[in-house]
Amino acid sequence: MEKTFLMIKPDGVQRQLIGDIVSRFERKGLQMIGAKLMTIPVELAEQHYGEHKGKPFYDNLVQFITSGPVFAMVWEGENVVELTRKMMGKTNPKDAEPGTIRGDYCMYVSKNIIHGSDSTESADREISLFFNDNELVSYNKAINSWIY
Ligand code: PPS
Repeated sequence: MEKTFLMIKPDGVQRQLIGDIVSRFERKGLQMIGAKLMTIPVELAEQHYGEHKGKPFYDNLVQFITSGPVFAMVWEGENVVELTRKMMGKTNPKDAEPGTIRGDYCMYVSKNIIHGSDSTESADREISLFFNDNELVSYNKAINSWIY
């Protein structure tokens, strides 16, 4: 099953949006298989955002993401990478549609609430940066043809 890495950024944690955001993905039918509240060390932030090193926003981004606790998660489901990116909305909240997380909750790209992997390859890389295998669970939901 496809997996993705999602992370509620320090602004989302401070604004007490963890429950609401998790609830959106749960109601969609996706399954959370790992989660932790953590403060990211600078070295991990630099690895995670390594591809952006040298860009004008890089220093701000690393400073911001290490400035307070984040809620790091792994989610599983069919097409979970594409689906969660759609539900998050465009990176810059000014372009994000109402109904999406960024469209509903934020104003500025420098505080855009949530990160999500942009491909299955990034997801594998990011999951292994943030989680050990023994921190992820595998379980079947009690499903029938109406509830999934
Ligand atoms: S790029 O250059 O198109 O690849 O960059 P982009 O995908 O738009 O953004 C990469 C990540 O940097 C964050 N970002 C910013 N952070 C702080 N300040 C500014 N100005 C800024 N611009 C972009 C953006 O949210 C992306 O991080 P994630 O965690 O993936 O959302």
